[in-house]
Amino acid sequence: MSTPVLSVKNLNVVFHQEPKKAHIVHNVSFSVHAGRCLGILGESGSGKSMTCKAFLRLLDKNFEVSGNIQFQGQNLLAKSNEQIRRMRGSRITMVLQNPMNCFDPLYRIGEQIAETLRSHTDWSAAQIREQSVAMLELMRIHHPQEVLHKYPHQLSGGMLQRIMIGLAITLKPDLIVCDEPTTAIDSISRYAIMQEFLRIKRSTSAAMIFISHDLDILNMISDELIVMHQGRVTESGTPAEIFEHARDPYTRELIDRHHEVMKAFAAATQIGVNSDAT
Ligand SMILES: Nc1ncnc2c1ncn2[C@@H]1O[C@H](COP(=O)(O)OP(=O)(O)OP(=O)(O)O)[C@@H](O)[C@H]1O
Ligand SMILES: [Mg+2]
Repeated sequence: MSTPVLSVKNLNVVFHQEPKKAHIVHNVSFSVHAGRCLGILGESGSGKSMTCKAFLRLLDKNFEVSGNIQFQGQNLLAKSNEQIRRMRGSRITMVLQNPMNCFDPLYRIGEQIAETLRSHTDWSAAQIREQSVAMLELMRIHHPQEVLHKYPHQLSGGMLQRIMIGLAITLKPDLIVCDEPTTAIDSISRYAIMQEFLRIKRSTSAAMIFISHDLDILNMISDELIVMHQGRVTESGTPAEIFEHARDPYTRELIDRHHEVMKAFAAATQIGVNSDAT
């Protein structure tokens, strides 16, 4: 098989702040290839975000990060802060949980998109305007010119998340890291946003990492899956393999809960059909 876009081997994160010391991530290893999606499943506090923040070099000096992290054959832990800052936002992009926090409330959406594009490209002002509109159209946002003039609070969470996703793919990154990108939005928008992610996955060759505590969402989008519990990887494989063979009790519990929800949903739908017929 080809070389992975990202390969993480024996990643450890230890938090030091006198008198506290906590080992947060233990020997985590995984890799992700171009055009593929790795899902990271785990309950709150299991270390999913810490794992990604560690290889994205977003942790401060209180966190000691060790391991072997290769992004397109380059050791990410050996890069200078400036080199890594330039990579983030262009070669590696992120879509985070709460889109509201990703935009500055004081500036119009268009200015913020332009600022991001300006800092990572040598596009002219006209090209940036053109690309901003094209990006909003690609994300199926109506009246893009008007939207560019709005402030973040004038748009819904679902719309802001679409803009974040649009920005994350506009610079054609090699890796897109999505950390619970559907958690903070309502369930109807969540479905639509998942459709956008599936569309992106089909249409780009970027590698994708998708973090969630929702098995259904990961089942939809991931080619491979790791399950984390208390900072460790407890299972890895395709979603189907994990569904069938998971041995770890925590993972089994998640799968059993998922089956129960599916059964309850099927039963409820059945009742709905019968009562309609009478
Ligand atoms: N700023 C911090 N300082 C010290 N420890 C932290 C900090 N942030 C998180 N932790 C510890 O790291 C562990 C893993 O946290 P992490 O944010 O990676 O969890 P997560 O799996 O992303 O959870 P969630 O689903 O809630 O986002 C937590 O149990 C927490 O104790
Ligand atoms: Mg998290």
